[in-house]
Amino acid sequence: MEVLRNLADLEDYRHHIGLKKSEMLTLVPTMGSLHAGHLSLVQRAKEPSPEQPEALPAKVMVSIFVNPIQFDQPEDLKRYPRQEEYDIALLSEAGCDAVWIPDVKAMYPKGFATRIEVEGPALLWEGARRPGHFSGVATVVARLFGLITPDRAIFGEKDWQQLQVIKRMVADLSLGIIIEGAPIVREEDGLALSSRNQFLTPTERAQAPILYKTLLQVREKLQNKAPHSVLQEARQTLTEKGFSVDYLEIVQKEEMLVAKAWSEHTRLITAARLGSVRLLDNIGP
Ligand code: PAJ
Repeated sequence: MEVLRNLADLEDYRHHIGLKKSEMLTLVPTMGSLHAGHLSLVQRAKEPSPEQPEALPAKVMVSIFVNPIQFDQPEDLKRYPRQEEYDIALLSEAGCDAVWIPDVKAMYPKGFATRIEVEGPALLWEGARRPGHFSGVATVVARLFGLITPDRAIFGEKDWQQLQVIKRMVADLSLGIIIEGAPIVREEDGLALSSRNQFLTPTERAQAPILYKTLLQVREKLQNKAPHSVLQEARQTLTEKGFSVDYLEIVQKEEMLVAKAWSEHTRLITAARLGSVRLLDNIGP
């Protein structure tokens, strides 16, 4: 696996792999501190794209960059876990072809003055609670796309809203990159894998799977009950069990606006705090 650390390395790599028109370079953007969720995206990147099944998935690149401009809390950025050597070993074992690990200067050189603002799917939920977050995500992803020029990129459904924001940006700016979402990887007890789970105390860790269990129960109840009361009841149960619920809602799965009814066009999304950790989760019908 090639480890690329500066713009010259990246340019060289991009030039020398010399892909044919029928071959694809797939990018998996990450902030490192990798776990099985990230590695599932790498596996997906090695498979043909359902959107262009005739193209050969020739190369897989992972980027690792803790993007300062998407953090709305300086404390969160400071404590974000970093484990570069271990990440490189994991990626190499997973059969990744190249990893791009730029520093802040390579991503945001002196004079950098552009921000991408996404409205629509970025406005509510995480967008409303974390000012500037999605603008920071969209800006870094656009810059990664510009530097790496991948044919496609894979994002996890774990961050459902982020996936919709990226799809919207790529469509609106005609970036011509295939964006694919991949399913959430969970612990055996249902907790969605996340780099921030390591900050849960043992007691919180034991409580955390209740969030996913609640989503499953809500989905079950929505078969024959009105959404409003089902959601209200679930929020209350979570609160009683020690979660501080930011939101638990049914939304239109692409537009991310509140949906009145549960259907195949919707997604059940939640964010809830347990101690110092904010947990995100979502499920489809
Ligand atoms: P990060 O949190 O490192 O996540 C990188 C990718 O892994 C995202 O697409 C995320 O949705 C996916 N992912 C995380 N946990 C997952 C899980 N349990 N199952 C499946 N996929 C999972 O998301 C970011 O970084 C950043 O915002 C980024 C897009 C890299 C821009 O800086």
